[in-house]
Amino acid sequence: MCGIVAYVGQQEALPIIIKGLKRLEYRGYDSAGVALIDKRGLNVYKKKGKVSELENHLLGQGDLHSTIGIGHTRWATHGEPNDVNAHPHYSSSEKFAMIHNGIIENYDVLKTDLKNRGYTFQSETDSEVFMKFIEDIHKNNNCSLEEAVRLALHKVVGAYAIVIMNIEEPDTLIAARKGSPLVIGVGKNEYFLASDATPIIEYTNQVIYLDDYEIAVIRDGSLQIKTIENVETNPYINQLEMELEAIEKGGYEHFMLKEIFEQPRSIADCMRGRLDAKNGRLVLGGLRDYMNKFQNADRIIITACGTSWHAGLVAEYLFEEFARIPVEVEYASEFRYRNPVISEKDFVIAISQSGETADTLAAIELAKSKGATIFGVCNVVGSSIARATHAGSYTHAGPEIGVASTKAFTAQISVLTMMALMLGYQRGTLTESKYVQLLNELETIPGKVERTLKMNPNIEAISAEYKNARNFLYLGRGYNFPVALEGALKLKEISYIHAEGYPAAEMKHGPIALIDEEMPVVFIATKDNSYEKVVSNIQEVKARKGKIIAVVTEGDTVVRGMADHVLEVPDTAEAFVPLLSVIPLQILSYHIAVMRGCNVDQPRNLAKSVTVE
Ligand code: M6R
Repeated sequence: MCGIVAYVGQQEALPIIIKGLKRLEYRGYDSAGVALIDKRGLNVYKKKGKVSELENHLLGQGDLHSTIGIGHTRWATHGEPNDVNAHPHYSSSEKFAMIHNGIIENYDVLKTDLKNRGYTFQSETDSEVFMKFIEDIHKNNNCSLEEAVRLALHKVVGAYAIVIMNIEEPDTLIAARKGSPLVIGVGKNEYFLASDATPIIEYTNQVIYLDDYEIAVIRDGSLQIKTIENVETNPYINQLEMELEAIEKGGYEHFMLKEIFEQPRSIADCMRGRLDAKNGRLVLGGLRDYMNKFQNADRIIITACGTSWHAGLVAEYLFEEFARIPVEVEYASEFRYRNPVISEKDFVIAISQSGETADTLAAIELAKSKGATIFGVCNVVGSSIARATHAGSYTHAGPEIGVASTKAFTAQISVLTMMALMLGYQRGTLTESKYVQLLNELETIPGKVERTLKMNPNIEAISAEYKNARNFLYLGRGYNFPVALEGALKLKEISYIHAEGYPAAEMKHGPIALIDEEMPVVFIATKDNSYEKVVSNIQEVKARKGKIIAVVTEGDTVVRGMADHVLEVPDTAEAFVPLLSVIPLQILSYHIAVMRGCNVDQPRNLAKSVTVE
């Protein structure tokens, strides 16, 4: 949460920073700010609201020319979203300014101590305390600013990615990280720092991912990285493979719609080079060295949050069906504090689009400390989770900018499906002929997603009928139960309509009391093992005059005769249905949110990567 950008070089810093902040706005949009050094000194400009509010504010500030600057877009943790709590934060002397992404857990103790020694605070933030704590060490130890940063990092508890500017060194940026991401773009005599690579990609494809407990000092055109123990490191320069188009809207009104429509391609990209159905081959490179452990695991534990947790639930069905290994799916936030029973015989899969989710990272560290093998399924290359796990497979969905996760979900399920098929085949719980048949079917999924997307206009029309509903129920069974949860999450997070997902059979244990003519119920009733049972549940809702929107298999006539609206998805293997049945639910939530005037890509109170617990 929160996005940070910084630049030092020969170009004008402000336009680079503003553009970068817009790219990072998905990480938080409560306020935005920049600090620049020019003839007038080190000046901070900040404003509550989006980056566009900051731009308006900057219009009244005269010519702002600077070749060094830092910028921040905030998701509020300590202190309400307002101008004062916005970053950057000055030191007391106003000689330094700092941007911070993360949370300082012991800020209260530090603040009390600083206050007792005469410091005053303008904001309610932990970040201002952090800045003034560094300033205090600098003053008391009579040391350089970078040494003060290093000493301070030994004392602060929590997570941070920080960048600091110093009026006395107008060609220098000092940065550090622990727990929050920081990428350094290396240009020709210029450097770009950011929370992810999207603000950097149009200037350079050479990047360094700063590691936890590392401090980077960029001074006079050269970069030095050392640990907080003062040991110099030799950074590895990665080549970014991201294309600029991947982070632009490409003619779509919203990123979310673009990302929904990208799914035929993102699923195909995820399978490319891994699945070769014609030759009966499926290889996930990341699993190769760990296949033995995976195959012989006593148990698979899946840990994740939000949509990624829903993908984990789908995987529970997949692994148990194909590989016959017991699976537990855990909310990372619960798992990390529950003192769970974990051993070296457990294979833990951590799923995360951003690769930065704080709870998932903490769950990984806990499972690691108990000796389990940890496998990551991440989308963002080089992210913290990708680097904290023993091995992993990237989802290759490309950048997902909309806060509501769509293409990442189907790419996660694609990777997990391939893992389950490989595992079942290796363990002999899947016969060769069934395996080959499933590989062939899996290869048809991108085309079937493409066909499913053609329902868009139809779903838009249905959305208009239900846009004012106050509640929604989503019901499904088996593989479609996690899809029901995901459909409900998509609707509530972007349209602010209250929605619940349930296993369809649970309806009669409580939620049925809610059904009346005002209640839209979305059934996922594709032709599978529980189809007949779901049809009975549809009857029960109909008898109580609920409005029925049903996702069915193409050609279904039974549900068509009962439902108010049907949305058809192509027939496929039962295990692959979530890859298709979730698509109409994504589209439904998108249109309803747009019709309600909601900010689809940046829903209120949310951020794309949740780096606080
Ligand atoms: O980046 P992650 O996959 O770890 O994020 C997990 C959740 O925060 C995320 O899926 C969230 O629930 C999305 N807003 C759902 O659309």
